[in-house]
Amino acid sequence: MKFSKFNHQKKLNRRSNLGKGQKLWRRAKVAILGGNSLLSKNPNLFLPNKWPTYFSKSKGCKVWDLNNKIYTDMSLMGVGTNILGYSNNEVDNAVKKIIKQGNLTTLNCPEEVFLAEKLLSIHPWAKKVKFSRTGGEANAIAIRIARAASGRKNVAFCGYHGWHDWYLAANLKNQSTLDYHLLPGLDPLGVPSNLRNTSFGFEYNNFNQLKKIVDKENIGVIKMEVARSTQPNISFLKKVRELATKKNIVLIFDECTTGFRQCFGGLHKLININPDMAIFGKALGNGYAITAILGKQSIMDSAKKSFISSTFWTERIGPAAALKTLEIMEREKSWKKITYLGKKLFLIWQKLSRKYNLTVDISGLPSLAKFNFKSKNAQAYKTFITQEMLDYKFLAANVVYLSIAHNEKILKKYSEHLDEIFYTISECEKGNLNISNILKYPVSHSKFGRLN
Ligand SMILES: Cc1ncc(COP(=O)(O)O)c(C=O)c1O
Repeated sequence: MKFSKFNHQKKLNRRSNLGKGQKLWRRAKVAILGGNSLLSKNPNLFLPNKWPTYFSKSKGCKVWDLNNKIYTDMSLMGVGTNILGYSNNEVDNAVKKIIKQGNLTTLNCPEEVFLAEKLLSIHPWAKKVKFSRTGGEANAIAIRIARAASGRKNVAFCGYHGWHDWYLAANLKNQSTLDYHLLPGLDPLGVPSNLRNTSFGFEYNNFNQLKKIVDKENIGVIKMEVARSTQPNISFLKKVRELATKKNIVLIFDECTTGFRQCFGGLHKLININPDMAIFGKALGNGYAITAILGKQSIMDSAKKSFISSTFWTERIGPAAALKTLEIMEREKSWKKITYLGKKLFLIWQKLSRKYNLTVDISGLPSLAKFNFKSKNAQAYKTFITQEMLDYKFLAANVVYLSIAHNEKILKKYSEHLDEIFYTISECEKGNLNISNILKYPVSHSKFGRLN
């Protein structure tokens, strides 16, 4: 009795210490399925019971939480949506103009035509565009078109491509297939079981594995990112291209995340390997919803009879924001700026891990860089970084999406704080400190199941 009273008081104390964001998250979990609509913004992936979770305002690379604390975002920057920085004046003004003039009517908006022409001029191998508003749906559209064009239903894929049935179906036969492409523990609950054996995962750089799948499974579509954890492997991608051409398979590059980060357009432009279709999203509207599917003439035409249509794919803010975003990116050469900063960031992580003798695996494109500790306590160390960085008013974990609002001064500050944190982690690795004694909050989650 006494014990349970004590526990209750402890719980109340803990609850009253919660910030406004964490309190709202508790309400969200009651009212919203899964608490929100994007897994990557679940606070338990960062710092359970402490991550600010909600924002009230944003500008450049700064975010205001509900307690009016201002943080510098050295984490996901809107999950890759804001290469030009949050609340970019020029993009916002273009959007405000649309709001004044009208966003959606019975008639179509002219901006979608201008945007289609612009995207095709950047990617001359493509001759037609279809627009949607999210990456997952753009991927589902691309799969529908590619299946219609190839006349075969089976897909070989590498990487993450959204939440739709065609993708989750990969886990019907073997529940761990997607562990290597996204999160461990994804249950294909609700995905029709007759989609079993229609989607097959392959590893990046493992051409033999892909070839075996293609030979055995009557594959009609190959979908992959050009690169994610490493720079593009040109010889691997060339082989994939040749295989797809030889076997009449539609090759799709999903550039939702990689697009516009390392050159003006898809990453494939840099290595001169063209897909049959490409998908763009995320950064295209600098925070406003717009995604695009580009394809070769014959492929897009063969799907003319397939019904692909949605009301809000015709709203005007998305294409207007994208047109302005592309104009600014081209003018500012934003991909050069963020790649330059990303290389600096790689150096910071390399220098600090060497200084403190920590084994750290650094990966990713420079403008979406990542590091992982090679230690049994890796997840706890990542959580510790978030905990300490919050005190220094940084949103940070182990992945950084850069924007042109970041600069070397910010990197310097970040590096000074990270130096102290890496020192503490090295003391833990040496056994002089115990990470569980210095973590004030639970370790962040890494499995989908635990987030529910
Ligand atoms: C390569 C890739 N494809 C598709 C998606 C899904 O996009 P969305 O979250 O907009 O549905 C993502 C999102 O992270 C992605 O990185």
